[in-house]
Amino acid sequence: AAKAPELVRLVEPATPAPAFKIHTLQLHATQRVSVFGWVHQFRQQGAKLAFVVLRDGTGFLQCVLGAPMIQSVDFPKISREASVRMVGTLRLEARAPGGVELAVDYWELIGTSAPDLETKANADSLPDQLLNNRHIVIRGETSSSVLRMRSRMLFELRKFFFERHFEEVTCPTIVQTQCEGGSTLFPLTYYGEPAYLTQSSQLYLETVIPALGDVFTVMPSYRAEKSLTRRHLAEYTHFEAEMPFISFENLLQTLEDMICTVVERMLTQYHDEIHLLNPEIALPPRPFLRMTYADAIRWLQEHEVWKEPETKTPYTYGDDIPEKPERFMVDTIGRPIFMTRFPLAIKAFYMKKCPDNPIETESVDVLMPGIGEIVGGSMRNHDLEDLIRQYQANGIPPEKYYWYIDQRKYGTCPHGGFGLGVERLICWLLKQEHIRTACLYPRYMGRATP
Ligand code: 4AD
Repeated sequence: AAKAPELVRLVEPATPAPAFKIHTLQLHATQRVSVFGWVHQFRQQGAKLAFVVLRDGTGFLQCVLGAPMIQSVDFPKISREASVRMVGTLRLEARAPGGVELAVDYWELIGTSAPDLETKANADSLPDQLLNNRHIVIRGETSSSVLRMRSRMLFELRKFFFERHFEEVTCPTIVQTQCEGGSTLFPLTYYGEPAYLTQSSQLYLETVIPALGDVFTVMPSYRAEKSLTRRHLAEYTHFEAEMPFISFENLLQTLEDMICTVVERMLTQYHDEIHLLNPEIALPPRPFLRMTYADAIRWLQEHEVWKEPETKTPYTYGDDIPEKPERFMVDTIGRPIFMTRFPLAIKAFYMKKCPDNPIETESVDVLMPGIGEIVGGSMRNHDLEDLIRQYQANGIPPEKYYWYIDQRKYGTCPHGGFGLGVERLICWLLKQEHIRTACLYPRYMGRATP
């Protein structure tokens, strides 16, 4: 029998090999380089050849290891997710990811990867097991792609507003006021006093407009949602903006511009990566369809979408439109909808009444096919007395809101804004079936780990 070749200790050649990230390697084709990363795939071909697909978060690099390299004492310790440094000469290879591959002439093992890796998460894992091991799952191609596109989308959202001279502020998340109704508040004890995790930064943003003008914030918002749905989280990333001296029409225009510009820029820059995740993606048609809440109720009645199917009870004006019928409507219509003018009775205390009909509000939800509501926004009630009446009507003691009320006492102005659920826009753009894969570590009823 042939004797197994003896294992050797590799010696690093003296030729310089500067380190580069994988996404820049095409610029260095034919040079000698070092690349740090994790073993994404590993394949040995006989006794003389092995392929490592290296991943560093910026891309993938095929590394070719020949005879002396695979006789290294560390070679038997290479496995998926081990961390390594690969050194060698780049050569053009059309079939390799990124168009180059590395002919390795020296390599080092940095950290081994334990053999139980495959049992943690694989193609047969149940959803809960995948979520328990999400810290491993995110290394995969699909999950890391979603996280990368999310990062770029947040950048584009910020860029859109900075280009329009908005300022970004950072709002507190521990608060003593509610914004979106008591039923989804997360209470906590704050040095012996009652407090909550914020539901929205809106009330704080409103206080900043006299200081900075147009403003936005990107903060977590918290909702103690008591149901498990595919579009609700207990903690989500909330992109909120507030603008002084605007009209309701200005607000709708800003929303349409924001969504269309950001989606267009994403599709221009990341066409291939987005298409892999969402082959059907297309620019939303403009202008968005406008539909009042009253129109939506009529639509549901005409399409026999029942509030109580057993008794064929229809939805009537004043009912909350739940997630399912709302989704059915926007999926049937098949394009983005501005749903406007919700009744005051089912909306938050801060909303401005319509001048032509005070039982309705200057409010809007943006509905997208496949996901439903992604944005909620409104003009704000900027009349001091009327606001106080709204606190009373909603049974909210106004004392804790003195700073919000002061806003109406010292130079009030018409103003409005919105909140975009970042994960929901991701679900739409990247066709994520469930909001849990649109964020890093999802928080929902029953899960706060990892
Ligand atoms: O419609 P909402 O409740 O509006 C507000 O919070 C306003 N104060 C925002 C503002 O005007 N500044 O929430 C806004 C958006 C929703 O359209 C949705 O996209 C997202 O926040 N959202 C959630 N996303 C994930 N999980 C949840 N539980 C969410 N609740 C709301």
